[in-house]
Amino acid sequence: MKIWICGANGMLGSHFKRLLAQHQLNFITTIGRQIDITKLDDVSDFVRIQKITHIINCAAYTHVDKAETEEKQAYLVNAMGPHHLAVAGRRHGARVIHFSTDYVFDGKGRTPYAEEHPCAPLGAYGMSKLAGEMKLLNEYQKVCIMRTSWLFGFPGKNFVETMIRLMTEKEQLRIVTDQVGRPTYCQDLAEATLDLLNEEGIFHFANTAETNWYHFAKEIQRQAHALEFPLKIQSIEPITSQEYPTPAKRPSYSTLDTKKIEQRLGKKPRTWQEALQDYLVQLRQNQNQGVAYA
Ligand SMILES: NC(=O)c1ccc[n+]([C@@H]2O[C@H](COP(=O)([O-])OP(=O)(O)OC[C@H]3O[C@@H](n4cnc5c(N)ncnc54)[C@H](OP(=O)(O)O)[C@@H]3O)[C@@H](O)[C@H]2O)c1
Repeated sequence: MKIWICGANGMLGSHFKRLLAQHQLNFITTIGRQIDITKLDDVSDFVRIQKITHIINCAAYTHVDKAETEEKQAYLVNAMGPHHLAVAGRRHGARVIHFSTDYVFDGKGRTPYAEEHPCAPLGAYGMSKLAGEMKLLNEYQKVCIMRTSWLFGFPGKNFVETMIRLMTEKEQLRIVTDQVGRPTYCQDLAEATLDLLNEEGIFHFANTAETNWYHFAKEIQRQAHALEFPLKIQSIEPITSQEYPTPAKRPSYSTLDTKKIEQRLGKKPRTWQEALQDYLVQLRQNQNQGVAYA
């Protein structure tokens, strides 16, 4: 087995890099445009020359709002990129493990979305990610797609890290309360994915259970306070999405149903509060030691 972690300097890619090293698995990483997934020949040559057996694709265009004005670039990376990985995988016998998003759903439902629920993305990012899923599944059978939601991890610009920064700078925050979903720690997603390297089809993975951004922020505040982060924050007010307009429309309800992966793994993902605790403990330790992430 030889695993290629593509996009290894991104948030999820960094977790895979540390996890595969811990498990002493045989792997190789590429960062940024070292191997640009929008270039088929480069991808195919790399898979062939390196004798890759599994491609873990953490590379993506992830700017949800910017995608509204950079639709072409989002499509190139999120749709053509996975297509090229599938072509290379089929040519040279490597499996493809890919990540997609809860933003493929329109959020009009009020019960958790199962894997087979019809997709109807609201924005350009979600559309590009859905196109990537379809291209992968149409091109090649040995493909595993993990849909996930509301990721946090190291290093990366994510909601938890942003909240901690804002809570140390500001006394008041206003956070959206009418978007519901499931936060997910990259570490837990990476660990679950390791058990599915030879699976095919679509799986949903997220920490248990659903919440909204406002309650997520309140819990971050509670835990950060207990861990003695130097917080300035005095109050967090709930607001509606209308009061905080963004270029891309987000689904108001995008809770992923994870029963399929729970059956396959024989366990439920742990709660996002427990995962958050692990993340914040690590973040606090790193802050104290002035550590930058490798
Ligand atoms: N973040 C979330 O909340 C979230 C939620 C649901 C699903 N997901 C999905 O989870 C996956 C991982 O997300 P993430 O947040 O870890 O992403 P991320 O931190 O933005 O990392 C993406 C990586 O892709 C690389 N990349 C971009 N274009 C590339 C190209 N053409 N060729 C090769 N590499 C390229 C980037 O390199 P540079 O830094 O050099 O540009 C970066 O290292 C993505 O598929 C994303 O859609 C994320």
